[in-house]
Amino acid sequence: MAKIISFANQKGGVGKTTTAINISAAMGRLGKRVLLVDMDPQGNATAGLGITKNKLTVSVYDALIEKADSKSVVHKTKFTNLSIMPSNILLAGAELDLSQMENQALCAKKMLAPLLGDYDYIFIDCPPALGLLTVNALAASDGIIIPMQCEYYALEGLSQLMITVRKVRQLYNPNLDITGILLTMYNKQLLLTKQVKEEIAKYYTEKLFKNEISRSVKLSEAPSFGKPICYYARYNKGALEYQAVAKEILMRI
Ligand SMILES: Nc1ncnc2c1ncn2[C@@H]1O[C@H](COP(=O)(O)OP(=O)(O)O)[C@@H](O)[C@H]1O
Ligand SMILES: [Mg+2]
Repeated sequence: MAKIISFANQKGGVGKTTTAINISAAMGRLGKRVLLVDMDPQGNATAGLGITKNKLTVSVYDALIEKADSKSVVHKTKFTNLSIMPSNILLAGAELDLSQMENQALCAKKMLAPLLGDYDYIFIDCPPALGLLTVNALAASDGIIIPMQCEYYALEGLSQLMITVRKVRQLYNPNLDITGILLTMYNKQLLLTKQVKEEIAKYYTEKLFKNEISRSVKLSEAPSFGKPICYYARYNKGALEYQAVAKEILMRI
C-alpha cells in the first residue's frame, strides 16, 4: 500500500515543486514505485517532467471531480519507476467544483484509493495556498513535508500551516503526520539562515531533516529541460542532497 506524502507550504517559491520532482525521481532510482500528483494549476511539476501541459486530454482535474477514471490520468514518465498525474490551468476551476461536491475535502483521497496498490509512494505537489486543493491533499496524506526557505517571515508562515494541519487532523484525517521540515535554497554562510534554522529547531527539533538543500543553479535549470536533477546533472550537489533526503524519508515513513 502506497504511503501518501504532500509537499505543502502556502508560501510560493519556497521549493515545493523542485522538492516534489526531485524527491520523486530520487525515490524511483532507489527502487520505489512512485506516483507524483501535480495538484497545482500552474502545472510546474508536470512541465518539469517534460510533459506539455497544454496538450493534456485529461488531467488530475478530471479525476478529482470524477469525470475520468484515476488510472486513465496517470502517465508513465521516461524516468525510472516514476509516473505522474499531470495538471494544467484547468485545475484552477477545481476549487469551485470541489466546494459544490459532497465530502468536498475527501475527493483526492477517493481519487487515489484505486492507485494505492500500484505504488510505494504517492507524492503530492500542492499549490501555494491553504484552499480546498491543499486541504484535499492533506486529508488524503499519511505525511506532510514542509519545504522552507530560511527567511525572516518563514516562522510566521509555519505556524499558520500548523494550524491548518491541526484542523485537517480534527476534521478529516487524524493520522496526518509531519514527516519533516526541509530547508531549501540553503546558504549556511548567511547569519539569517543560521538564526531561522535555530528558531525552527527550537520548536521542531526532530522534524528538521538532517540534510538541507543548497542553492544551486542546476536545480533551477533542470525543469526547463524537463528533467529531474538526478538525470540532468547527476553529481551536482543538489542531486546528492535530494538523494540524501530521499533516504531520510525512507527511514521516517
Ligand atoms: N535549491 C535551489 N537552488 C536554486 N534554485 C531553486 C532551488 N529550489 C528551487 N529553486 C527555484 O526557485 C523557484 C521556486 O521554486 P519552486 O520549487 O517552484 O517553489 P514552489 O513550488 O514552492 O513555488 C524556481 O524558479 C526554482 O527553480
Ligand atoms: Mg510549485
